[in-house]
Amino acid sequence: MAGSLLLLCCCTQIFVRVATAQPSTYSNYQTFYETQWGGDHIQVANNGAQVDMRLDSSSGAGFQSIQSYTYGYFSMGMKLIPGNSAGTCTAFFVSSAGNSHDEIDFEFLGNATGQPYTLQTNMFAGGVGGREQQVRLWFDPTADYHTYAIIWNHVQIIWLVDDTPVRIFKNLQSMGQAYPSSQPTQGIASIFDGSSWVTEGGAIPIDYNYAPFISSYSQFEIDACVNDGVNVPDCATNYQNNWWEGSQYTSLSSSQITSLQNVIQNDTIYDYCKDRVRYPTTPFECSYNYNN
Ligand SMILES: *[C@@H]1O[C@H](CO)[C@@H](O)[C@H](O)[C@H]1NC(C)=O
Ligand SMILES: *[C@@H]1O[C@H](CO)[C@@H](O)[C@H](O)[C@H]1NC(C)=O
Repeated sequence: MAGSLLLLCCCTQIFVRVATAQPSTYSNYQTFYETQWGGDHIQVANNGAQVDMRLDSSSGAGFQSIQSYTYGYFSMGMKLIPGNSAGTCTAFFVSSAGNSHDEIDFEFLGNATGQPYTLQTNMFAGGVGGREQQVRLWFDPTADYHTYAIIWNHVQIIWLVDDTPVRIFKNLQSMGQAYPSSQPTQGIASIFDGSSWVTEGGAIPIDYNYAPFISSYSQFEIDACVNDGVNVPDCATNYQNNWWEGSQYTSLSSSQITSLQNVIQNDTIYDYCKDRVRYPTTPFECSYNYNN
């Protein structure tokens, strides 16, 4: 998570986004998830079809997948904090444990009333992160549920917003770059106080007069290779038969690439690949992920 980011011009235009079709079956919260922390700030409703998480001055909250996985599809319907959400961070991510952990993130950075949310994506491989990208969403993410999903296979990671790819990260292990490919990871959702960095680089801290801050979740889905870290996985070696390894997920169609490039060109607020102050030399992976 970057503390101070160089903000670039953001020009949002309307254009057609090309979707990646995913399975559209959804499950209830308890099929996949359990409390991680702040359980008294998690409200499970409609037999698990909907979950609200609450952030107030006493606590935030988080829930995590019961099982751990390597490679697969992680999807969540989310409706973000309405009104004043400055200083709050609402995150949906997959992560392993330990110092050299792997992590693939959606982080929704709150804002003052009437000001737009920022979607920040990031990823860690072998404990190394610092790969933040930020886009302005083309809809109001507080008005309704939208679907945020990660497809993670042995070729690439795809971040999807309502089935539109907004970022990819290619597996460049053959060139010596670390890539999440073996550690057991959990799907995690959390809501927490990010006053020191979230809104305008920390200039607008959380104002608990507006609490409780509530984010809502639905359409829970994880379809991924279970890796309990003990009976070690053929997730990494015997992956061919899993649908998320299909050719439409290991490479994007030309129209998807155009759609992704339009998001990058029209909606980008920040891209670590372009931050010459932070990275005087362009990070190795940047030229492989369509963001140049
Ligand atoms: C933005 O989206 C439009 C499609 O509506 C596309 O033609 C254009 O090339 C994109 N990029 C920029 C920088 O405008
Ligand atoms: C909050 O709103 C301001 C003003 O519109 C904008 O510059 C900023 O990118 C928004 N998001 C965050 C997370 O600060």
